[in-house]
This record gives sequence, C-alpha cells and structure tokens, in this order.
Amino acid sequence: MEVKTNTTANWADPITVGDLHSKNRIMMAALTRCRCNPEDNIPTPLLTEYYGQRAGAGIILSEATPVSQRGEGFFGSACLYNEKHLEGWKLVTKAVHGKGGLIVVQLVHAGRATHPTINKGLEAYGPSPLRRREPIRGLNE
Ligand SMILES: Cc1cc2nc3c(=O)[nH]c(=O)nc-3n(C[C@H](O)[C@H](O)[C@H](O)COP(=O)(O)O)c2cc1C
Repeated sequence: MEVKTNTTANWADPITVGDLHSKNRIMMAALTRCRCNPEDNIPTPLLTEYYGQRAGAGIILSEATPVSQRGEGFFGSACLYNEKHLEGWKLVTKAVHGKGGLIVVQLVHAGRATHPTINKGLEAYGPSPLRRREPIRGLNE
C-alpha cells in the first residue's frame, strides 16, 4: 500500500494511506471491547458511542471482527457475517464519518482460539488438529 508522506510533517498534518485521506497521522489501534450481546454479536449503541468519541483520530482500526459464527474468539465481540451485523456497523461508521474520522474494519477468524462454547455450539474448521496452548479467555483461565 502506498503511503504518501514527507519527512517534515508532524502528527497533525494530513496523510494519504492508499485510498484513505486522513485528516491527521493518528491511527487508533485495534482494541477488542466485547460490548455486544453474545447471543447476536450485533454492534450496540454503546459501540457506536465509543467509536464516535474517538473520531478525532485520523483513522480508527476497529476491534478484531469475526467473519464467521465459527470464528469468534471472545464472548460478545462485534461480528460481521450477517445483515444485522452490517446494519449495526453502518451506525458506527456513520457516527465516525459524521465527526470527520475514518474507520477500517479488522476482519478476523480466531482459528484454533475459538471454542464451541463461544461459537454457539459450532466447531471451527481448521487446516490441522493443533491444540491451542494458552487458555481461552473466559473459559478455562
Ligand atoms: C484490551 C485489548 C484488546 C485488544 N484487541 C486487539 C484486537 O482486536 N486486534 C488487534 O490486532 N490487537 C488488539 N490488541 C492489541 C493492541 O492493538 C496493542 O496493544 C496496541 O497496538 C499497542 O501495541 P503494544 O501492546 O505492542 O504496545 C488489543 C489490546 C488490548 C489491551
């Protein structure tokens, strides 16, 4: 990805990153918040408020967002694999764009860090039967 920059710029100067024209050089790191109902994982009004409050950053990288019901790594994280998720995320992006910010979704599949207890009873598909060594947060720690 092309990043147009110069050596004399400071953090408050605009920057172009690929197709994104950011108002400044602050990029908010991805931070999983687990603020949704684990029954549906739809982005909530609280998530919209949270991201809208942070639109002062030029570009927000969203929390890791599962792309499959078999790929969730945490209880209650905001997902993006059905229409209701999409509608919830649209409210988030509208809030961020409305304050002049940009937001990019970080898509994730948690792979062997998933568990049927998180994934509504579904097993994750994987390329190998390797076990995860670390405990799964909220389950066996
Ligand atoms: C509560 C919490 C949630 C996080 N969630 C994500 C995430 O969803 N995706 C990701 O790539 N990194 C995630 N991170 C890592 C942060 O983005 C990372 O800590 C941040 O970029 C600062 O980097 P550092 O910890 O190496 O200093 C998370 C970190 C914390 C503390």
